[in-house]
Amino acid sequence: MTNLLENEKRIAGIKAVNFVKSGMVLGLGTGSTVRYFLEALAEKVNGGMDIIGVPTSKKTEQLAISLGIKTSNSTDHVDLTIDGADEIDHSGRMIKGGGGALFKERIVASHSNEIVIVCDHSKYVETLGKFPVPVEISPFMELLTIKMIGKLCPNVTLRNNGEFLTDQGNHIVDCNFDNIENPEETYQILRSVPGVVDVGIFLHMKPTLILGEKGYAREIKLGENVTSERT
Ligand code: 5RP
Repeated sequence: MTNLLENEKRIAGIKAVNFVKSGMVLGLGTGSTVRYFLEALAEKVNGGMDIIGVPTSKKTEQLAISLGIKTSNSTDHVDLTIDGADEIDHSGRMIKGGGGALFKERIVASHSNEIVIVCDHSKYVETLGKFPVPVEISPFMELLTIKMIGKLCPNVTLRNNGEFLTDQGNHIVDCNFDNIENPEETYQILRSVPGVVDVGIFLHMKPTLILGEKGYAREIKLGENVTSERT
């Protein structure tokens, strides 16, 4: 990671705090960009802002608690989720799960009234697929699950040779397609394999993207057939 990209992550993460209002239930994403958001959020919380965070991973939960942010895993709604992405296209379709937190990230994002994605400029792409799609699988009979996934994707790797465990105690396989022409179809096909717990392709979320770019962050509203920009 170059200093330039790291700085873009920082700028994007910090800008996301502008979306937060006191009283909100906030989905807290996972990853290095979200970390910048959490640090900036903690300053607001320490200054009196009252929010409850719903963490999408044990890692985020520990970080939030250490920063003095209240957390819960059982709220009755989520107002806003701030999360990162590994790739996001111009319709707002995403690859997520580089940090292995896709399962909880999907639950929280799906129940969220609004989604804000923070990332550096390299992740905003024309076509998804350069980043391998993380697929969470049950370890039960996983050789056969992986074999079946291998028939759908030419290049499949078991993350850390099976030493990587998700919060649910599952494994991740990373599926390298290089170029995903039809993310909806790829999602459906992978999801239908027995043993697959979740697939790191996120669709129909209509996120607002905060994109770090050199010295500033662009705000872009994304969705099917919608792209609008605010500075
Ligand atoms: C974790 C994710 C992250 O949001 C994604 O990997 C981006 O992480 P980073 O901000 O570190 O680049 O999906 O499961």
